[in-house]
Amino acid sequence: VRDSRRFLYGLLHLAHVASARSRNVIVDRVDDGLPCLPLKDHSRAKLDILGYYLAEFTRAMASKFPTLVYLDLFAGPGRGRFERSGEFIDGSPLIAARTKPPFKKMILVEEDRGHAAALRERLRLASPECIATIFEQNCNTAVDDIRREIPRFSQSSGGLTFCLIDPFDLGIEFATIKAFSDLRVDFLVLIADQMAGGRNVENYLRDDNETVSRFLDDSDWRPKWKVQEVEGVAFREFLVAAFSDKMKTLNFLAGDPYRVAIAGNNVPLYVLVLFSKHRLAMKFWDSALRNAPRQKSFW
Ligand SMILES: C[S@@+](CC[C@H](N)C(=O)[O-])C[C@H]1O[C@@H](n2cnc3c(N)ncnc32)[C@H](O)[C@@H]1O
Repeated sequence: VRDSRRFLYGLLHLAHVASARSRNVIVDRVDDGLPCLPLKDHSRAKLDILGYYLAEFTRAMASKFPTLVYLDLFAGPGRGRFERSGEFIDGSPLIAARTKPPFKKMILVEEDRGHAAALRERLRLASPECIATIFEQNCNTAVDDIRREIPRFSQSSGGLTFCLIDPFDLGIEFATIKAFSDLRVDFLVLIADQMAGGRNVENYLRDDNETVSRFLDDSDWRPKWKVQEVEGVAFREFLVAAFSDKMKTLNFLAGDPYRVAIAGNNVPLYVLVLFSKHRLAMKFWDSALRNAPRQKSFW
C-alpha cells in the first residue's frame, strides 16, 4: 500500500509537470504516506508568493547567470497538509524544483532526520531530474559545509543564489546570513515576529535566553528594546526593524514586508521580507505581492 501511494504521488506530479509547465505550486489530495507538516490556511499565501517570485526570478535571470542556485535553510519534509480542508500542498523545495526555467542546483538543509528522509524521497519521485544536495544538519552550525556548495560568481560561470529562510520561530542566526553575504545571495526571510517573538517576550528578556541575541547578532538588544517599548513600539515591530537594520549593514535593500495573519481575522503571525543588494529583485518582489495567484485546488 505504501509503495503504491508513493507511486501515485510520483506519477501525479510527473504528469502535472508535463501538462502545466508554468505552475509550481500544487495542491492535491494524494496522501503519499510520508511525514507532512500540519498547516493552517495562512501558509497558502506564503507558498503562492514564493512560487510566483521564483518563476519571475528564474525567467529573468537564467540567461544572465548560468548557475542559478536555490538554497533552503529550513527545508521541511517537502509536503504539508491543511488541517481544515485535509488537502496537501508541496513545500518550498518541491516548488523550487518545479520552477521553470530550472535552478541548476538545489541546496537543502533540514535538521530533522525524518523530514530530511521524506524530502529526499519526494524529490526522487516528483522531480528526479533535479540536482539537490541535502544537509541533514542545523543550518546555523553547518555554515561552512553549505558555503562550500554555493558556486562563486564569475563572468563565465556566474552563480546567483536565492535563499529561503522559513523557520517556525526565531531560529535563524544573523551570523549565518552574514556568512553568505559576500556571495551573490538574495534572501526571503520569514520573520516570526509575533508567532514566536511577540508571544515570548518575557522569556527572551531573561538574561540566560540567547534567542534574540543570536537572531540579531546583538547581545545589547535589551536596553535598545526598553527605549522603544517606552515609546509605544510593539516588540514585533522592534524585531522586524532591528533585523532589517542589520541586513542594511551588509548593504541589503529590503522589500515591503508582507504581513501574514490568522485567516479570517487580523491577528498577526509573521512577515515575509525580501532582502537583496539589487533593485531588480525588489521589482520581482512587488510583482509577486501584487500578482501571486490565490490558486484553486487541483481537484
Ligand atoms: C516551517 S518548516 C519549513 C517548511 C518548508 N519551507 C515548506 O515550505 O514546506 C521548518 C523546518 O525547519 C526544520 N528546522 C528547524 N530548525 C532548523 C535548523 N536550525 N536548521 C535546519 N532545519 C531546521 C524543522 O525540522 C522544519 O522541518
